Amino acid sequence: MLPHKIIQERLQAAVKVALPDSDAASVLVQPCPDPKFGDYQTNALMGLAKARKMNPRQLAADVIAKLDVRDYCEKVEIAGAGFLNFRLSTEAVARSLSAAVIGEHLFFEKTAHPRTVVLDFSSPNVAKPMHVGHIRSTILGEALTRALRLLGHQIITDNHIGDWGTQFGMLLVGWKTVLDQQALGVDPLKEMERIYKIISARCDPEKPDFDASILKRARSELVKLQAGDAENLAIWKEMIRLSQAQFEEVYGRLGVKFDHTLGESFYNPQLQKVVDEIMKAGIAKESRGAKAVLSDGTLPPKEDPFLVQKEGEWVPNPFIIQKQDGGFNYATTDLATLEYRLKTWHADEIIYVTGGPQQLHFRQLFATFRRWHPESLTKLAHVWFGSVLGEDGKPFKTRSGEAVKLSALLDEAEERALKVVSEKSPDLPEKARREIARVVGIGAVKYADLLPNRQTDYVFSWDKLLALNGNTAPYLQYAYARIRSIFRKGGFQDADMAKSSSVRISEPAELGLAKHLLNFGLILEAVTQEYRPNFLCNYLYETAGLFTTFYENCPVLKSEAGVRESRLFLCELTAKVLRQGLAILGINTLEQM
Ligand code: ARG
Repeated sequence: MLPHKIIQERLQAAVKVALPDSDAASVLVQPCPDPKFGDYQTNALMGLAKARKMNPRQLAADVIAKLDVRDYCEKVEIAGAGFLNFRLSTEAVARSLSAAVIGEHLFFEKTAHPRTVVLDFSSPNVAKPMHVGHIRSTILGEALTRALRLLGHQIITDNHIGDWGTQFGMLLVGWKTVLDQQALGVDPLKEMERIYKIISARCDPEKPDFDASILKRARSELVKLQAGDAENLAIWKEMIRLSQAQFEEVYGRLGVKFDHTLGESFYNPQLQKVVDEIMKAGIAKESRGAKAVLSDGTLPPKEDPFLVQKEGEWVPNPFIIQKQDGGFNYATTDLATLEYRLKTWHADEIIYVTGGPQQLHFRQLFATFRRWHPESLTKLAHVWFGSVLGEDGKPFKTRSGEAVKLSALLDEAEERALKVVSEKSPDLPEKARREIARVVGIGAVKYADLLPNRQTDYVFSWDKLLALNGNTAPYLQYAYARIRSIFRKGGFQDADMAKSSSVRISEPAELGLAKHLLNFGLILEAVTQEYRPNFLCNYLYETAGLFTTFYENCPVLKSEAGVRESRLFLCELTAKVLRQGLAILGINTLEQM
């Protein structure tokens, strides 16, 4: 077991003795924000004391008296208003690392309470190229999936493809009137986007190309599709097939696989039933011919997703689930999807990863669902993210002003990485340089998406994300490869190292690195609890920095026998944490760069 878990367990037991009526499980141990005070700390005793009108420092003293962690800590101290600070003994740190060397753990533990979590991410739209917004969803969603899986949760990934909606009326007209078969063969998404643009401009009364007869035709093609017309259904299916093939190509490059790809159309047969049920339950009402969910007045206006402030007044902000013309929409589909996921997979939690503009949609969706199924205990989370901006601070676009496409972005990443690699290692054969460039380029793009706090917009800068110095994927990949080169230089294979010998710690730089490695699992837990892979990015960056300090201060290969093995173990464990951490971010490592 990891030291902080043992400390936490014993602390909870001591709290249980000091306060038999308390919920000791809520007493958690966290890393100390400032190592000056210790390695771990708990602030939970202050809350317990406050609730009982006790003196918090007195309670802390009572708990310490009942707590024996001498085999793990050199010091336990009461601080401030009633914090407990724990400082690990060097001996305990070394013991824990020695256990990691023989493969007992890699500084994390599988959860004792596995949950079934459905992750809805990527979810691009048929007949439209994936753009940088979808990349962020794909990369964030994949990182969360990997972290949750590593911790032992049961994860089901579902790509909720946009394969239904009014756009198909226009796409069908385009397909039948202006399609260029040859262009379709070369780049189907590009051609489908082109025909869509032509027809949608003709359907838009505001545009000079407007043609009322085309608009009428688009409507009738859509009605025919919805009624199951064989020709239209076949074209629609072909559009999905072609889009899906191109999406798969991108997923292949990103190393992403979905357990399910249930597009929006999958739920069509359920939509009327969903609306009827929600109407019957009195949750939705007729409002100007449409059916919509409105505020039930139970929430303060500020928190009520069915109200919006206009000119200083709170006015209804309806969640429309059936349109005036009887058609269904994004909301209806998402309600049906939610119900399906609960019934089919018995999800404890559903996580949706999309851009920030969908916040209101998900707040309304979740609130509607709660009213519809008040008995459900399933947690619903909208993990939203900000936009990707160009270096001019405006939404990231190509030079000609179009949305940047994912596949083109990845091509450019590999190309630019090849330049960097060729400068750094001109002697490697071209094939090797290309392979390195692929791993570095894709890794750099992923890391750029994961590093910023996901709720802030970030500026996409090629120079920044490919820099070898700084908080970047190439820097971390390089740090990993550098450690591996120590083993090559020393003529070691992992397997040669005598696993029976143990880790010894004498230098401060060794201790600093070792203590940091111990916190890998705590970081993984924080990533999954707060849906923030950036915690892991920063942790890995610090790992690489602490390794550098260690390597500059503590000779490895040149040190005497015994110390040398111990330091090689530290190198090996650091490399393993870097590799495992990067793997969670979906980033590969290389033995040599
Ligand atoms: N297709 C949508 C888009 O491109 C994202 C879907 C997200 N998932 C969901 N269940 N609504 O914006």
